[in-house]
Amino acid sequence: MALKLHLGGCFPAGGPSKEDFLSAAPRAAVVRDKHLADVPFWQRLGGRTDLLELCQNRSNQIRQEEFDTFVVLGIGGSALGNSALIESLSPFGQEWAPTPDRPRIIVLDTIDPDWLKGFLDSVSIERCHFNVISKSGGTIETAAQFLLFYDAVKRAFDSDDAARARFTLTTDPKAGHLRSVAQECGFETLPIPAEVGGRFSVLTPVGLLMAEVAGLDTESLLAGASKTANSLEACKPESDAALAWALAHVLHLEAGRPIHVHFPYGHHLRSLADWYLQLWAESLGKREDVKGDEVFVGPTPTRAVGPTDQHSQCQLYVEGPDDKVHTFVRVGEPSWSGNIPSAFVEGIPAFEALKGRTLGELMEAERRGTEAALRAAGRPCAVLELCKLDAFHVGQYIMFCEIATAYAGGLMRVNPYNQPGVEAGKVAALALMGVEGYQEHLGEISAVLAEDENMSFSC
Ligand code: PA5
Repeated sequence: MALKLHLGGCFPAGGPSKEDFLSAAPRAAVVRDKHLADVPFWQRLGGRTDLLELCQNRSNQIRQEEFDTFVVLGIGGSALGNSALIESLSPFGQEWAPTPDRPRIIVLDTIDPDWLKGFLDSVSIERCHFNVISKSGGTIETAAQFLLFYDAVKRAFDSDDAARARFTLTTDPKAGHLRSVAQECGFETLPIPAEVGGRFSVLTPVGLLMAEVAGLDTESLLAGASKTANSLEACKPESDAALAWALAHVLHLEAGRPIHVHFPYGHHLRSLADWYLQLWAESLGKREDVKGDEVFVGPTPTRAVGPTDQHSQCQLYVEGPDDKVHTFVRVGEPSWSGNIPSAFVEGIPAFEALKGRTLGELMEAERRGTEAALRAAGRPCAVLELCKLDAFHVGQYIMFCEIATAYAGGLMRVNPYNQPGVEAGKVAALALMGVEGYQEHLGEISAVLAEDENMSFSC
């Protein structure tokens, strides 16, 4: 029941060495001390059974409805955690067939009209429940989704009351437009604690309501998160796995390896990797440091999934520029060994190698083979190991990544909790939509977007 980290392959010759890593330990310990002196709210979410109870109660109410599809409306930190939980812990991602006990879960983190038309054509709208998630309550994509689907549900039932019952609004406890609408119009709501920002919010009602409705083991999820938070807080700095992983990445970043490849071996881990990508990129990619000086720093996280992407991206990783750090994420014990039958094997060497073997063995051989190829080429590799793929270990993984991100922000001297670059895009979109109060930005935005006729092509 532990998350393990192996950094033995992380310091090949020519880059930062193990000695560099060890001598940077005091710098890392200072960052950790500062973090632990004021433990962030999200680090204690594993113990917040009150938030879980709210979600359990709301889930019980929703389950009284005649519905078969639970839809998450939100974007960024208000959606990625939901995809991560459902993809990692349900039998077959979002594609599973609904049963009376377990509805289908759909995370709609887009306003793409073609995609949403496909959704509307594929579901019975009167059999859907919508969780509208927005911490700020003002994100325009989520607002557009809400207006669109509320109208569709209202028309299906021909009743505001019946339509309202099909919605939960999950937002800041006090502030924001979504909270005001809920208060004025009588929607059921769930709170996102004011202290928790979007990408750190998966263990609040943002992720927990969906997890409850889907029948995931939410108690173990939170227990895993608590276990990791507690053991990282209690250990000595030199044994802190999240600190070690953050420090290794920051040292490589400083030494010219800005691309951080998250490489899970497991199809269930794909969306967890996408969740991590947002956490790492949005928290650490910054123009200014904490003093306000321009630094333009940040790693570029990217995702590969093994073994699938061995056949698409690995060539680049092994032989391309030496600008990457790779973290394999492996599951110690797959839930199914997958014995490979032995028809057709005689006389065919490639098939004979599979005789009496399991898919689990093959998967690990593929992972180790890829690690060996990378390490032989002098490319840094870390291995993060979940003993099993279950709610407890996913909770551990989530808390590990969040704490490591906070440490990496401290080591890089940037604020991991703001996102001015995202806000700039939001403001520009509002101005382009003609929203009152944003017109003053239009001149500047139009100048930036000006097209050069001579640079447009068609074929
Ligand atoms: O991590 C973040 O803060 C962002 O990705 C937000 O989650 C995203 O922009 C959506 O914001 P909101 O939840 O306020 O609608």
